[in-house]
Amino acid sequence: MANRIFATKSIEQLMRSGSDEGGHTLKRTLTATNLVALGIGAIIGTGIFVLTGTAAANHAGPALTLSFIVSGLGCLFAGLCYAEFASMLPISGSAYSYSYATLGEFLAWIIGWDLILEYLFGASTVAVGWSGYVVSFLEGFGIHMPKALTSAPFVHDPTGWHSTGAIVNLPAVLIVALMTWLLVRGIKESAHFNNVIVLIKLAVILLFIFFGMSYVETQNWFPYIPERVTDAATGVSRFGWQGILAGAGVIFFAYIGFDAVSTAAQEAKNPQKDMPKGILYSLLVCTILYVVTAAVMTGMVHYTELNVPAPIALAIDSAGGALAWLAPLIKIGAIAGLSSVILVMLMGQPRIFFSMSRDGLLPPVFSKVHPKFHTPHVTTILTGSVAAVIAGLFPIGLLGELVSIGTLLAFVIVCVGIIVLRKSRPEMARPFRTPLVPLVPIIGALICLLQMAFLPVDTWIRLIIWMAIGITIYFTYGQKHSKLQKGL
Ligand code: ALA
Repeated sequence: MANRIFATKSIEQLMRSGSDEGGHTLKRTLTATNLVALGIGAIIGTGIFVLTGTAAANHAGPALTLSFIVSGLGCLFAGLCYAEFASMLPISGSAYSYSYATLGEFLAWIIGWDLILEYLFGASTVAVGWSGYVVSFLEGFGIHMPKALTSAPFVHDPTGWHSTGAIVNLPAVLIVALMTWLLVRGIKESAHFNNVIVLIKLAVILLFIFFGMSYVETQNWFPYIPERVTDAATGVSRFGWQGILAGAGVIFFAYIGFDAVSTAAQEAKNPQKDMPKGILYSLLVCTILYVVTAAVMTGMVHYTELNVPAPIALAIDSAGGALAWLAPLIKIGAIAGLSSVILVMLMGQPRIFFSMSRDGLLPPVFSKVHPKFHTPHVTTILTGSVAAVIAGLFPIGLLGELVSIGTLLAFVIVCVGIIVLRKSRPEMARPFRTPLVPLVPIIGALICLLQMAFLPVDTWIRLIIWMAIGITIYFTYGQKHSKLQKGL
């Protein structure tokens, strides 16, 4: 039994099962530029537009820039491992397929199940953030949407679940529905839409950096690492070195998404060369932009005042009207930016289900491809429907932490997988090689584990419950239908 569930699928078998079986297959249309844009499309979103302020005020102070560097390094090391795998195994299952080749079917299932937290729940989380920005944008024009239709009907606090009196977060549901429709229509169409949005959000962030820079008051950067303090009433501590790590755990969310590029491997024109480019360039561009944005923001506004949901807007206001023209542009940039994050997350999930279904671990309907659009339309609609329901009902904080812990776990497994595969299949052609193995994967895994350790206990419990559900499904369905177990 143990031998069976830890059986690995050979790279050759994986490549075969990922290729055309029934005449309908995914279409190879994406270029290197499309892939870098997909990465940036998925990365820049709620993290930079919403979470940076609270991370500075509640955890790191001006040293938020260091939090971004720590988290960025963890992602860069994990990204180098993703790049090696994506160039060797250019099929749509991402970390799920990589684990199948290295750690065995059971762990591959676990990771596939875990990735639902990143992609499906990730799309829902960002949709809730999108709804918040749209509501505030419309308010700027005197259009007030009723709270009952724009917020979650349930919230969770230490005393348990409570009803808020709201009915549904309607804008969040609608944006998920719109992105799902686009994804069913075709990956090329979706990639074009994404390219336009990426240009808008890059422009907005560059404008903020360029014009904000002259309003930086350098004394706001000092003390760079404020002394550690503990609130007597709540026992909660902030600042100091620990604050930098806690801040890194929070803003890790801002980096999630570069790995989504690897789910499009089966639709890339030249995956061996272009997947590493897509993953690493998008990560590099975003890391630089994040560190500079954090420096400008904490320089324009004292960190103690940044505990707000729209910190970039606050920084603009602090320039005393001189940058008022930039305020609506930032909101438009954020709304557009968050849409593309939702798009890429909703693109990734069905492609992982697609691979799991081709391996027999999920029913065959999950790998149906539309005869005309060449997209996995059934799973795209299923993913979109579930993501819309979650986005309509739950609050952002709870969802965001669950997404972070799930993604960090996936990164740890990918880092370990690189070391395993170098030992088990040293002879395989590796169009891209992670440098300094095993050092880079080990440091990558350690930084990710450290960030997981700083997430709340409740989030760990939810992760364990989620995994328990997944394991039950594996033993009741997946194992019985697995093509590997049947010798197919
Ligand atoms: N990195 C994405 C965001 O910040 C998930 O919204």
